[in-house]
Amino acid sequence: MTTWITICDTCKRTGWEETGAETTDGEKLANLVEAAAADLPDVRTRRMTCLMGCKSGCNVTIQAQDKLTYTLGDFEPLEEAAEGIANYAALHAQSETGQVPFRTWPVAIKGHFVTRHYPLPQDDT
Ligand code: FES
Repeated sequence: MTTWITICDTCKRTGWEETGAETTDGEKLANLVEAAAADLPDVRTRRMTCLMGCKSGCNVTIQAQDKLTYTLGDFEPLEEAAEGIANYAALHAQSETGQVPFRTWPVAIKGHFVTRHYPLPQDDT
């Protein structure tokens, strides 16, 4: 089953305005995550505008049908963060429930979890 990484491409870290950059931090992270996930089976990426966690950008969500969903934030747009996000998504894809054992978490995602959402019940339950 496919796990999706949704990357907020409008996130700006504190001080971004002063850098004069035209590319947002979210766009930079999205570019890096897309590259890191490109060859991973069962992982896909998409960009969205504002995940409503602006104070703790950069933000991403990790989702799959009928599995736990996670929001992670406060990432710098760096390759190490992108690799960690992509590799965590691959582990999420391999997990039946979306729960990934802590001992297997990539170091780069530790301390970045913001929320967890349980899958919705089936309509007929
Ligand atoms: S701009 Fe990224 S969460 Fe709002």
